[in-house]
Amino acid sequence: MTHPAPTAPTAPAPFAHEDAADWYRGAVIYQVYPRSFADSDGDGIGDLAGIRARLPHLRDLGVDAVWISPFYASPQADAGYDVSDYRKVDPVFGDAADAEGLVRDAHELGLRVIFDIVPNHCSEEHEWFQRALAEGPGSASRALFHFHEGRGEAGELPPNDWESIFGGPAWTRVEGGEWYLHLFAPQQPDLNWDNPVVREEFRSVLRFWLDLGVDGFRVDVAHGLVKAPGLPDIGRTGQFGLLGNAPMPFFDQDGVHEIYRDWRRVLEEYPGERVLVAEAWTPTIERSACYVRPDEMHQAFNFTYLATDWDACALREVVDTTLEAMRRVGAPATWVLSNHDVTRHTTRLGNPPGSGTQMVTPGDPVLGLRRARAATLLMLGLPGSAYLYQGEELGLPDVTDLPDEVRADPSFHRAAGQEGFRDGCRVPIPWSGTSQPYGFGPREGDPSWLPQPDAWRELSVEAQTGVAGSTLELYRSALDVRREQPSLGAGDEVEWLDAPDGVLALVRRGEDGAPVVVTTNLTSEEVRLPLPGGLLLASAELAVDGDEAVLPADTTAWWLG
Ligand code: NOJ
Repeated sequence: MTHPAPTAPTAPAPFAHEDAADWYRGAVIYQVYPRSFADSDGDGIGDLAGIRARLPHLRDLGVDAVWISPFYASPQADAGYDVSDYRKVDPVFGDAADAEGLVRDAHELGLRVIFDIVPNHCSEEHEWFQRALAEGPGSASRALFHFHEGRGEAGELPPNDWESIFGGPAWTRVEGGEWYLHLFAPQQPDLNWDNPVVREEFRSVLRFWLDLGVDGFRVDVAHGLVKAPGLPDIGRTGQFGLLGNAPMPFFDQDGVHEIYRDWRRVLEEYPGERVLVAEAWTPTIERSACYVRPDEMHQAFNFTYLATDWDACALREVVDTTLEAMRRVGAPATWVLSNHDVTRHTTRLGNPPGSGTQMVTPGDPVLGLRRARAATLLMLGLPGSAYLYQGEELGLPDVTDLPDEVRADPSFHRAAGQEGFRDGCRVPIPWSGTSQPYGFGPREGDPSWLPQPDAWRELSVEAQTGVAGSTLELYRSALDVRREQPSLGAGDEVEWLDAPDGVLALVRRGEDGAPVVVTTNLTSEEVRLPLPGGLLLASAELAVDGDEAVLPADTTAWWLG
């Protein structure tokens, strides 16, 4: 299809892209979810100008890069993951000049910027889909999607038995009788990646934003673009988890890799190291490693790590498996505990093990926060790159009691309130002040698209700044120490030390800098360990008793070995 000539805003400010090959290998990358980060105009929805104004917070926090969830033109059926124009900023979030200014400001502060790209599906309001509806069966525009005749005598049944990840059938029938595929909501028709026009269009979209100076892309549903030939039945119904072990004919097909090789070549046309990050829910970590082979993407999210319970053996195993799999392909490991699709780890870890990654119960919030702080220090002590989700530096829990009428997660409504609790981790950030929206909007009393709990007054950036022991100060110190001690985050190996059951102890060594020992007590009892060295940082108060460290329950400490 033809697009109007891209109206790329003025040339981006010069930024030393060239200076930093491999910048991503140990980077700490902070996810901004635009509608919930900061609202500059008081309409209750965060925007790009709000993000720009808050960039100094991210610089002070000490992260290396910012990943921004979609802000493109979209009817917002799935909070922007339904894109109607890949080159436009949605007016809710601002305009092209705001996007350009955001990249420039971030670069001036030394922060890299990763945008989100959504190639598996677009919005039903995308002009391609509108044209496909209008032009009907057999048209070139229908061939950009997966339109098929139904089954049954009169085509009244969907073409196969696939179910949408958001609940209900993965097919919707249109006037004239054909059905189209949507792995997510009906408002998100899947694009047909067998069609070269689709491939060419996305190369052009990548270049559009690369020209603006972005440092890379997080690739939404990277495992979903290619479907098995013939779209075969699965042979069973029922919801399946994203991290299910069974291969699915619509996920993790080998054909996706050619697309990322192609995209890598596009990125390499640009100076410096621009990166691709896979959001790929794969059955195993080894399958994730396929996305980061040397000529494909640079990083893949480690959802297996995110979904691992607070259990020493299980965590050790996933760390080892990850490092081994990534070492084999020469890619950095990544670690993540929270994002906009799962229950925040503060809440997850206060619930019983095995509760999954989407829960509606608050669990034990005190225990959850204590474990979350320990889990974060463990994660930031591992080799590779770590992803933080906005608000985790404040220790925010999920809001588990949002009234049904304010919920916007499409799967909540499609599954009649039985699934889809992602709104709980998307409640707007409290920045300052003593009344709602706690600095999220410009004035007291401004709306916020989801209500914030009153208790968040105590959790705002302002309330925690300079307060010894606050979660915000813990994150700031951790990122400071991580920068000062290059052994943390570097390399691709950990050396495990002997430790009592339920305790993890590991040494990090880098080319530069002294070794750092990371110890995590995952039990509910205090443990004594031979003193590993001088204390650098701990997630909770601990004591040193002669030549022993006394590590309280659910605590991580970093030691200079
Ligand atoms: C993954 C995104 O993170 C999620 O928020 C979205 O709903 C689905 N992909 C569909 O785009």
